[in-house]
Amino acid sequence: MTIAVGIDIGGTGIKGAVVDIATGELLTERMKIATPAGGSPSDILDTVEELFGRLGDVATEVPVGVCFPAIVKNGVTMSAANVSKDWIGLEAERLFEERLGRDIHFLNDADAAGIAEVVYGAARDVPGLVLLTTLGTGIGTALLYNGVLIPNTELGHLEIGGVDIETVAAVSAREREDLSWTEWVARLQPYYTHLEFLFSPDLFIVGGGVSKSHEQFLPLITTRAPMVPASLRNNAGIMGVAWLSVNDHRARYRDSPIA
Ligand code: BGC
Repeated sequence: MTIAVGIDIGGTGIKGAVVDIATGELLTERMKIATPAGGSPSDILDTVEELFGRLGDVATEVPVGVCFPAIVKNGVTMSAANVSKDWIGLEAERLFEERLGRDIHFLNDADAAGIAEVVYGAARDVPGLVLLTTLGTGIGTALLYNGVLIPNTELGHLEIGGVDIETVAAVSAREREDLSWTEWVARLQPYYTHLEFLFSPDLFIVGGGVSKSHEQFLPLITTRAPMVPASLRNNAGIMGVAWLSVNDHRARYRDSPIA
């Protein structure tokens, strides 16, 4: 059995598990520790180290992937919306590798979720353009064309109605302002209408923890393309980054039009 560790760092929680790569099944309980207030690099590194320790000895013998809520380019975190601004320009991949004492695979959290939906979930064998949005503390996006990820799209920060859409339409905004489902959908609708105008995707997938309540709000959103809940719910980041930690080289060469 091929197994790997996936660790998903979010603005609110840091989650991790050991994953069976063939099926995506979590082989351990999903461990979760609250993201330290302020989200500073040293506090998040400490928390990831603690969570890794809780996964048991097996975790130290298998590939490890970590995903993070920021633009990630060549191992460097290039933005910080719901974590400390100190992450901007940090060689984060190297810092996690030093802290965990091993090589890791490191990428954006929504991109990891997109890969998981392609490999195990709602985007599997879907041709054309799939646009995944994760609704949580922030809004993350993954753009996938014929199963190949176009990374770091950051479409949760589109400016709509003069504001960064994430600040008014993420789940954190819904909770902060105690919005009803209908009030929340009134904010999400212009967002999805705009995304559809820009990208004309063949399928929208909506992920994040709130996707478990999809009956409450997805049917209220109108798009030309079908819109479905993420089939992996909030485990997609863990599963995607674990899968990549084992398969990335193969995937890169298999999917590359040049190879
Ligand atoms: C960040 C993205 C991230 C998303 C979901 C946004 O604020 O800019 O990088 O994917 O939150 O966590």
